[in-house]
Amino acid sequence: MNKIGIFTSGGDSPGMNACIRAVVRTAVFHGVEVVGIQRGYNGLVEADFVPLESHSVANIIQRGGTILKSARSTSFLTREGRKKAFENMKKANIEGIIAIGGDGTFTGASVFNLEYSIPFIGVPGTIDNDLFGTDNTIGYDTALNTVIEAVDKIRDTASSHNRLFFIEVMGKDAGFIALRSGIATGAEAVLVPETKTYIDQLIVKLEQGRRKSKSSGIVIVAEGDDEGGAYEIAAKVKQKFDFYDTRVVVLGHIQRGGSPSARDRVLASQLGNAAVEKLLKGESNKMVGMVNNKITLTDFDKAIKHTKELNPSLVGLVEVLSI
Ligand code: F6P
Repeated sequence: MNKIGIFTSGGDSPGMNACIRAVVRTAVFHGVEVVGIQRGYNGLVEADFVPLESHSVANIIQRGGTILKSARSTSFLTREGRKKAFENMKKANIEGIIAIGGDGTFTGASVFNLEYSIPFIGVPGTIDNDLFGTDNTIGYDTALNTVIEAVDKIRDTASSHNRLFFIEVMGKDAGFIALRSGIATGAEAVLVPETKTYIDQLIVKLEQGRRKSKSSGIVIVAEGDDEGGAYEIAAKVKQKFDFYDTRVVVLGHIQRGGSPSARDRVLASQLGNAAVEKLLKGESNKMVGMVNNKITLTDFDKAIKHTKELNPSLVGLVEVLSI
């Protein structure tokens, strides 16, 4: 391979830039040219390409977001869009692609590969950590630290004013951020999409806390919980239990930004490097990941369709430590 393309797609995540840097530098090391494809699949459909050299990725390892920009493309969902993308790739002599993103990104890559046999390697970049085939996705650790910092601050107010806070974190289908941040901040309860939420049980728990003289509390709610987001859950609780003065905080997109943590920078560097090595060795249609500190490859199909389970011992830990 003489020339490869790289893009970031889906929700941005801290460490994407560190990964772009690793991809470009590894390719240059092997004498391979790199083309940056801007705005995810949109850039492929619209031939929005920029040459990337070693110096193009200087001074970005510490920056959040993505220098290539990101998007959830609608044009690539159409046959016509993908045909254009293929023609643009051929014209630019791009022989293989590295895609940094989440399940939507890999679904697009799978379809494209099926139709045009384009070699693709995926790198897991999403704060949600919801991809099978890697212990952590790029950006998850930074997002967790952002949540923890925010919840610690909210707890100061909760405790000063004897309030109960419902704090909503990201995760429309997955509770990884909610569960770990809940443990790390000593939350009274954690509500996640993976397990059924029973409002009555939550109230029993809060009531027990009140009887033990807990004067304030934190409930972490993953945005995709089956009983609703933090506002809905707070309202449902308040109907039956209004001992505490209650407030709701939705952390939102502050979770996606910021300078990547040490863990995310190193993970992004390792995975970016591995992605290029694997692509040059002829691998395709797979996601690189890190499992038990070892680089792994997982078929796109499996990475998307197999559900990564929440660690049951962590779920149990919340119950024990929040009494
Ligand atoms: O997939 C990452 C994610 O941050 C989800 O947790 C969240 O539901 C979604 O993106 C938000 O997307 P948008 O930025 O398009 O509102």
